[in-house]
Amino acid sequence: MARRRIIAGNWKMNKTPSEAVALCAELKDLVKNDAVDVVYCVPAIDIVPVVEAVKGTNVLVGAENFYIEDKGAFTGEISAPMLKDAGVTYIIIGHSERRDIFGENDILINAKVKKAFAAGLKPILCCGESLALRKAGTYAEWIRRQITWDLDGVSADQVKDLVIAYEPIWAIGTGETATADQAQEVCKMIRDLIAELYDQTTAEAVRIQYGGSMNAGNAAELLAKPDIDGGLIGGASLKADFGQIVNA
Ligand code: 13P
Repeated sequence: MARRRIIAGNWKMNKTPSEAVALCAELKDLVKNDAVDVVYCVPAIDIVPVVEAVKGTNVLVGAENFYIEDKGAFTGEISAPMLKDAGVTYIIIGHSERRDIFGENDILINAKVKKAFAAGLKPILCCGESLALRKAGTYAEWIRRQITWDLDGVSADQVKDLVIAYEPIWAIGTGETATADQAQEVCKMIRDLIAELYDQTTAEAVRIQYGGSMNAGNAAELLAKPDIDGGLIGGASLKADFGQIVNA
């Protein structure tokens, strides 16, 4: 089964609302490609203007975070139904920056995956190992554990709609990309794990991205690998290079 490529930008905590609208205008013609899902995952305050700015284009909007309750006394938080109503399609869950800086654990991440599906959002579930785990050779075990916990109680039909992003922490924002073979090895391992936890059809349907210093120069080689269905791009999603990655 051919899986549709998905190239998503993770803007992180960059771009004010007016800068976000300007970036959408700059990228508009560069990211045109009807064969690829193109997603901008943007800061919460940019969601409304970005949804407006990409209207009538091929770009879908994603969010970077939310809280698991639908509404109530949770000062400062935003809910999945709020994101859905604002026009959001994808939601990043379990990014290493949220795990490491904001202390999110796999119990919360699992609750977020289930809540996102319940609200009609498509999760981009992130996993990946530290440099220490890579060097110790225990990264496969670590990633298996992350995904197994994060998908507890999630159905096969939901997983068919899921995107998993393999993002080795040592490659994020460092300029050090995993080699295409290293990325393929882990993405295949993740697909095999989905076959083990669910079934072969689900494993063939789930889309798996690589993320970590992906750029206009290395995207084509990474995306040519059989188990890499797309990319989750940080730094290079904030400039014209993103168009080259979409069309790599
Ligand atoms: P960089 O592309 O800046 O390394 O960031 C990757 C990332 O964390 C995407 O979620």
